[in-house]
Order: sequence, then structure tokens, then C-alpha cells
Amino acid sequence: MDLEFSNGKSEEKKIPDPCVMIIFGASGDLTERMLIPSLFELYSDKLLPENFAVAGFSRKEMDHETFREKMKKAVIENKTHCEFKEEIWEKFSSGIYYFIADYKRTESYKYLLTEILKIENEKQTGGNRLLYMAVPPDSLNEIITNTGKSGLNKEVNSGSWTRIILEKPFGYDLESAVKLNKNAGKYFREKQIYRIDHYLGKESVQNILVTRFANGIFEPLWNRNYINHIEITSSESIGIENRGGYYDNLGALRDMVQNHLLQLLGYIAMEPPSTFDPNSIRDESLKVFQSLRPINEAEVINTVIRGQYTGSKIKGENVAGYREERGVVPDSRTETFVALKIFIDNWRWGGVPFYIRTGKRLPTRVTEIVIHFKSTPHHLFKSKSDIAESYNMLVIRIQPDEGLLLNFAIKIPGSDFKVQNVNMDFHYTDLKELALSTAYEKLLLDCMLGDSTLFIRADAVEACWKFIQPVLNAWKDDPSIIVYGYPAGTWGPECADDLITGHNFIWRYPCKNIADSHDYCEL
Ligand code: BG6
Repeated sequence: MDLEFSNGKSEEKKIPDPCVMIIFGASGDLTERMLIPSLFELYSDKLLPENFAVAGFSRKEMDHETFREKMKKAVIENKTHCEFKEEIWEKFSSGIYYFIADYKRTESYKYLLTEILKIENEKQTGGNRLLYMAVPPDSLNEIITNTGKSGLNKEVNSGSWTRIILEKPFGYDLESAVKLNKNAGKYFREKQIYRIDHYLGKESVQNILVTRFANGIFEPLWNRNYINHIEITSSESIGIENRGGYYDNLGALRDMVQNHLLQLLGYIAMEPPSTFDPNSIRDESLKVFQSLRPINEAEVINTVIRGQYTGSKIKGENVAGYREERGVVPDSRTETFVALKIFIDNWRWGGVPFYIRTGKRLPTRVTEIVIHFKSTPHHLFKSKSDIAESYNMLVIRIQPDEGLLLNFAIKIPGSDFKVQNVNMDFHYTDLKELALSTAYEKLLLDCMLGDSTLFIRADAVEACWKFIQPVLNAWKDDPSIIVYGYPAGTWGPECADDLITGHNFIWRYPCKNIADSHDYCEL
């Protein structure tokens, strides 16, 4: 089915002010995989200002030309919808510069400033600066401080702007997140700070707000009277790739739940904002985070399940267990899977359980939110049908195969009143001429335009850590809390199913397990 839709072709596109994007940590992976390819897509789509430049800073020895060549390769490998055109690249890359500097040393900042001023002069960017912190989390505070002390945090003139983009993780726990916010707040106003959670840049995540607040049919049912429970699953088939050392200090709760999945929860559970402006939206999701029922440390054992993948065979190939991965300590208790049951203590959601689950080396890559509606109060067709009661289900598929699926009951054609559930299924790919932009394209552009709606505010970061902290404490303090092993390629520890209560409900499994055995063990 092809659907016609207005894809904004005739709509006037907003082009940001001229500016220089200054990337700290430019020789790293993020610049190559995400930042430059996204900027190039925006440039090819004519969404960047004519007067635009990128200034990369890093310790690694490289000249402008070598950096440009490296970025060209990265763009070709990582581009999404735009065709790579040599002549466009030539124009775009003439505004890319690279400077060798140790951004940990205060002296380097004088040099940075001199070079930035030269670029600003040459490219006539009007003094607008976007500082992008693509740096390891342990150097972030120091770089923010140096940026502030060197005056790079200041607006150059009364009409110009300076903004800073911070990458997750925003701290390692509540204490370090508060410290980071305090330090950033010392040198930048909250209005200048853009904290990226790339999940909010996903088209299908923004569509949660439209599904809820632009349709008359869902919102009246969107509460404890009609909803039985809600699942949020983000499963990945990849392992930790070459991030062993980094991941082993984090785990799935810090890496995925504290940020991405709680942000999804915020959009699913928030009250309708009265206006669509950055603070109304963010105020409403903050209220959700503040209403999360605190998990008591003693309760962690019953409401949070953690797991770690073990070696297995997937499609005939041997797959290493987490503890065999490079950079991971051999007796690591870091979770690569976590499932939790949570409640939101407010009028709308009183008593409705929310189940959140995420893991690495699961059978497939899928992120989806499943709204399970309550069944009808009276089961009219009970005596006629094998299904005694039917539960409607709305699946919001975030990725891949973005879309919406509504599951509802119909009469099976025939003489009797037998009931069966069927799907009404919408896929984004049904839309004609679809070109979904990536999360980074959307977020970089929004930041240049000064729209902070999809960025995380300091208070939300802290509210999410506050909720997560007792779980981290319990895991640290109580060695009797089990880390369940699950074979790579399965859906995680089976006991995660026991979290879900009532009517034999289990998690929705978007595809069947592909590992042959369920050799679950205690690690
Ligand atoms: C990152 C995590 O924030 O999100 C990774 O650090 C994870 O571990 C990634 O793989 C998932 O993002 P996406 O967009 O592929 O779902």
C-alpha cells in the first residue's frame, strides 16, 4: 500500500544562522560515524547555511587535508539517503578544518580561539558557535571548565549565540550527574546547553506525541481505566562490539534505561502539554520522572532482573560470551540485559505496571512500545470461542520497520460467533518518497536553530538518575542478587517473564528465539 502524504516539499525549510561547529574530540569514532555524515546529508539537502564551517580539535596528529580525506571515506560509508556527489563534497569539505590541540591543557584554548577567529573571519559566520563535546566522559568536566575559563563559552556579540552540545552519559550516577550539571551551569546558561539523547531525534519517537495528541481516538483510553499494562522493549542483536572496557563500567541500566528508555516512557506517559514549546514538553516528561515510584533497595531483587550473555551458537556460528569479550574482566557482573517493573504514582497511571526491558545479543534488533488495553467488562462470546477474553494491543514500533500496529478482535467468517485477533498495520515504508532523516541530522539542525524541545534538561537527567540510583546501590551492596546468564541469541533470562503479572501475560516476542537451548544459569 502506497500512501500519499505531504512531505513538506512546498513547506518553507528553516535554515539556521551562519555558524562554526567546533568539535572537541574530532578524531574519535562519533565524528566519523555520525557527525560529519549527518552534516553532509543536511548540506546536500540544502538545510545548512551557506556560511558554515567545522573546526575539529584533537590530540591526534593530522593536517586539514588528511582529516578531510578521512571524513570523505566516513561519509561514503555512513551516508543514509543522499547520493554522494563529488562536487557537493568538494564545496562542503572546503569548510572543514582540523587542529591539533590537547584540549586538556588550558594553553591550548588560546590557540583554539585564534584559529576559530580566523575561520569566522574567512567564512563570515557572524560569531555563532556550536561547541560539540565528542569526548570521553571522564574528561568532560575538565573540558567544560577550560572552555569556560578561556572565554569560549561567551556570546561573541549581542546578536550572536554560543551553544554547547553534550553527549551521554550525563554522569555515571546521581552524584556525578549533579556535579556535571553544576559545572556546566557555572559556565553556560541552561538555555545554551543541549544534551543529546539520540532516541528523541528518531522520527518514530517524535511520532509518539503525534499519535497521542493529534488523534481523538487514543487519548480518551490512555489511562488506568482502559490500559492494563505497557511494555517498552529495546533489544539489540549485536554484542558490545569493541567497547568492552567502556561498557563493563556501565551496563545496560546506565547505558540504555537511565536515558533512552526513560525518555520513551516520558513521552508515553506524559500529560498533554498545552503548547508545543520546548519547556512545555520537557516539563511534562519531567513530571513523569518525578512521579516514578521509588524502587526500594530491598525490592530490587523482586522487581529488577539482570542478565549477562554467555557463549552460544547463533545460526551455526560460535558467539563469545560477555566475559570472553576484549576489555571485560573475567568475573564481571555487569549486566548486558535488564528488565524492570515500575509504576508511575499519579492520577492517570495509578496501579498500571510499566515493564521495561533491554539487552545485547538478543535474537533481533527491535525497539517497540506495546500498549495492552484491558478486555471488555463482559465476555459475550465466551461460550462460542476458544478465546475467552480478547485484549487489544497497540504496538508502536520505533525501529526498524517504524510504524504502528493495532491488534483487535474480529468474528471469524462462518456460522458461529468465533472470535480471533487480527492486525491493522501501518509501516512508514508505506509512505511514498520516504526519506527518514537520522536522529543526528534532526538534532544537529534543531540545535543550530535554537530549538531545544528534543534535548534533555538538567532537571530531567537528575530525576532519572534519582530513580535508577537505588538499583545501582542494591547491585553494588548485595552480592546475593543474581546475575542470570542467558545464551547469546535468546531473549534473556526466562525469569524476566515472571515480572509480568496477571492473566498469563508474558513479554511480546517480536520474533522466535533462534538459539536451540535455554541453558540459563546463575553467574
Ligand atoms: C547507545 C548505547 O546510546 O545506544 C549503545 O550506548 C546502543 O550501547 C545504542 O547500542 C542503541 O542505539 P540505536 O539507535 O541503535 O537503538
